[in-house]
Amino acid sequence: MTDHLTVVDHPLVQHKLTLMRDKGTSTAGFRRLLREITQLLAYEITREMPLTTTNIETPMEEMDAPILAGKKLALVSILRAGNGMLDGVLELIPSARVGFVGLYRDEETLQPVQYYFKAPEGLKDRLVIAVDPMLATGNSSAAAIDLLKEAGANNIRFLCLLASPEGVAKMKESHPDVPIVTASLDREINAKGYILPGLGDAGDRMFGTK
Ligand code: URA
Repeated sequence: MTDHLTVVDHPLVQHKLTLMRDKGTSTAGFRRLLREITQLLAYEITREMPLTTTNIETPMEEMDAPILAGKKLALVSILRAGNGMLDGVLELIPSARVGFVGLYRDEETLQPVQYYFKAPEGLKDRLVIAVDPMLATGNSSAAAIDLLKEAGANNIRFLCLLASPEGVAKMKESHPDVPIVTASLDREINAKGYILPGLGDAGDRMFGTK
């Protein structure tokens, strides 16, 4: 993956995203759509996973058939909204290992502070896909990637549903080696850090909180 930012413009992705943005969409509908759209985005972000071959016998004959190479992928959810993207990826890649990064924003310094970190072992040998539906200011995403790199990851991709120009710029400055795959590059963020036109608070919409 050579581009820093890939916007997946597939019609199914765009259609589902419109349904998700609509404030009339129910919590259950939002969650289902997020799972479905994540699968389509995951298909794109895993496009260049390396393959090797394994020798098998079909009912007809022997063959050397393609199979994923290397250690199992690590999927890392940036809490809490990232959890809404886990199931979609895990349905496609059930053997993936799963980690979690929890960060909150210090109201005085406005900087992200870590409250939880648990990652699969051997990160340095794995493709690591960090998931968070909203790349808004980019501060927490960049901090999460810092933590993953400190833990040894060196082949990281970032999967989100919506990205803002500010968030993409922050990630490009802090982590130019981390490709981003998203369903949309939206217009801007507002003073409170919400993406416009966006879809509101992704965590609240998927978990039914306010
Ligand atoms: N997080 C959200 O849930 N929504 C936004 O618009 C920005 C950050």
